[in-house]
Amino acid sequence: MKVLVTGGTGYIGSHTSVELVSQGFDLVIIDNLSNSKIEVLDGIEAITGIRPKFEKLDLCQAEPLDDFFKKNSNIDAIIHFAAYKAVGESVENPIKYYHNNLVSLLNLLEAMRKYQVPFMVFSSSCTVYGEARELPVTENSPVQPAESPYGNTKQIAEEILQEFVNSQDKIHAVALRYFNPIGAHPSSHIGELPIGEPENLVPYITQTGIGLRDQLKIFGNDYETPDGTAVRDYLHVVDLAKAHVATLKRLLNQQNKKPYEVFNLGMGKGVSVLEMIQSFNRVSGKTLNYKVVDRRHGDIEKIWADTSLATKELGWKTESSLDEAMKTAWDWEKQLNKNQS
Ligand code: UFG
Repeated sequence: MKVLVTGGTGYIGSHTSVELVSQGFDLVIIDNLSNSKIEVLDGIEAITGIRPKFEKLDLCQAEPLDDFFKKNSNIDAIIHFAAYKAVGESVENPIKYYHNNLVSLLNLLEAMRKYQVPFMVFSSSCTVYGEARELPVTENSPVQPAESPYGNTKQIAEEILQEFVNSQDKIHAVALRYFNPIGAHPSSHIGELPIGEPENLVPYITQTGIGLRDQLKIFGNDYETPDGTAVRDYLHVVDLAKAHVATLKRLLNQQNKKPYEVFNLGMGKGVSVLEMIQSFNRVSGKTLNYKVVDRRHGDIEKIWADTSLATKELGWKTESSLDEAMKTAWDWEKQLNKNQS
């Protein structure tokens, strides 16, 4: 089975590529390397013994993409990760986000139609639920107006995908709504590679732990949560990667119940920022330096997933505990900064 992975050198894409190669899928990765490094392929090869085929290509350019499909007419499925994902940057530069995230999707769907690629797995986000009125959120919880242009690109992309699938007889798709992926491959050959100052919590924690940053800033401790800090549903990126393999098999074996399906992927547990720091302290033996500052604009108070649909339909559930996932994040950070730990 030949699978095209767009954004396959990115954080979730690279971990998924490892799981796919390990399961015997024949991969071709497309990435424009705007937010990832070609060396990630070395990491995938070090883990699996196989170097996936790679094409540096910008999905926003329809013609080179069409040429790619002409050369690779035997693709069975696409896993579409490639997108910009920085919430703050999307507020500063919305056009950049709408253009990149939506034009790339449209070009890919046009190619799917033209070359009759039957299956797509799409990277969506729990951001579509906004500040949910009832927790945990199920796939039937209402989609709420997006807090950022980034979040809006995910909502619009889901709508486009659904309408596209409805217009086609032989094309099926699944949107996976990720909660908060953390950690790295346990081998430390691949992991998260934030460019510049990390926006996300765990890379900020590990960079502070290793001494690259002075202090973690906790964005608010006056939320209505048990300890006042915001609550999210963190899951190990390797568990998330495995969910993609399960989704792909469901599509390839035609076990999907509808042409367009949606699944929540999380651990199903709410964890606060302070609890994340405690987890880091446990696995690293350090005491993280932090201070509480104002809330971050656009942050929601709390969200976690009901993952029973994914368990029932995909036969998937998370395997790693929070501490196990955190330990892989810490091991990865130490590996990146070998001389300073
Ligand atoms: N946080 C801090 N300090 C930091 C970074 C984060 O206190 O330096 C807090 C945030 O306020 C939040 C939690 O840690 O409460 C998690 O923040 P992240 O930035 O790691 O993750 P978010 O939940 O804000 O965002 C993530 C993805 C988005 C996605 C969103 C969906 O990064 O792509 O989940 O809810 F849209």
